[in-house]
Amino acid sequence: MTKRIALLTSGGDAPGMNAAIRAVVLTAQHYHMQVLGFHHGYNGLLNNEFTQLSLSDINGIIHRGGTILKSARCKDMRSDLGLKQAANVLFKNKIDALIVIGGDGSFNGLIALKQFWSGQMIGIPGTIDNDIDGTDNTIGFATAVNTAIDAIDKIRDTADAFDRVFLVELMGRKSGHITFNVGISCAAEQVLSFENFQINDEKQVLNKIAAQIKAAQQERHKSYLIVIAENLWPNGSQALADGLSQLTGIDCPLCTLGYIQRGGSPVAKDRLLATRMGVASIQAIVDDKTDMMIGEQNNTMSLVALTQAIKHEKRVSQALVDAQENILALN
Ligand code: F6P
Repeated sequence: MTKRIALLTSGGDAPGMNAAIRAVVLTAQHYHMQVLGFHHGYNGLLNNEFTQLSLSDINGIIHRGGTILKSARCKDMRSDLGLKQAANVLFKNKIDALIVIGGDGSFNGLIALKQFWSGQMIGIPGTIDNDIDGTDNTIGFATAVNTAIDAIDKIRDTADAFDRVFLVELMGRKSGHITFNVGISCAAEQVLSFENFQINDEKQVLNKIAAQIKAAQQERHKSYLIVIAENLWPNGSQALADGLSQLTGIDCPLCTLGYIQRGGSPVAKDRLLATRMGVASIQAIVDDKTDMMIGEQNNTMSLVALTQAIKHEKRVSQALVDAQENILALN
């Protein structure tokens, strides 16, 4: 019997989602399955808004950022009413399996849907934040890191020209994967993230960095870059920038990279990861798996329980944090 697959992208878009869609459609075709692509995340499921995906839909998309299926965050998937509606649409369209490409919020939606729908469910981790357990990397993370590095290298050029101080705020929601990897790759003088900062340290950190900035500027005449994770500093990164400017008497502007990190053409690493995960998701369906996320562990595709994937236990490597704290940062 030909299986019918529903596919959607949900939550923050991530470069490489299109590559994953392409791989799902091609692999499904290989196994003689049909793929219905629902639009605008779970909203498309609630509104029965889909197109049957064919080869012409996935032609020429592997290099494109964003998602051809569009994405959204869907509050209705947090209520029984919304979940029942989604389940009805799946029944009505005779769907055997649902594949969701997204982050932890999207996987929570899948887990909740299980109460009302008994088809196969497979998650593919797509988020720039890399904050999903059970996978070494999520689709979009590598591109976001590269995009931020590219932007900060440019900021460094102008900072060097004037021996200026800059704070750069990076995305990641409540995780420091982007901040640490970018900070180290850009030789930032300071990396401030959840892994090396406690809220009680606020005053101490402020005074310490202010002293270091003064030393760097007065004695060594050099630029000074601080990368900081969004949602870290009490009252926001601008409060840190203001505090440092006040304490040092030196202008310390904040540059928020923001959504630029979500866009752009996926780098090779994301295209490959997304393609491998897309293929693995259909293979999991062929093998009658359900309630699983496709993960990448030690460069091998694996299956991880969705309930495990959303635990938020994955931390930035301690070795990386220690290297930054003890060796690389100016003390
Ligand atoms: O999860 C991806 C992400 O870009 C986070 O890094 C960021 O905190 C959040 O999404 C922004 O969400 P929204 O697109 O809803 O503003």
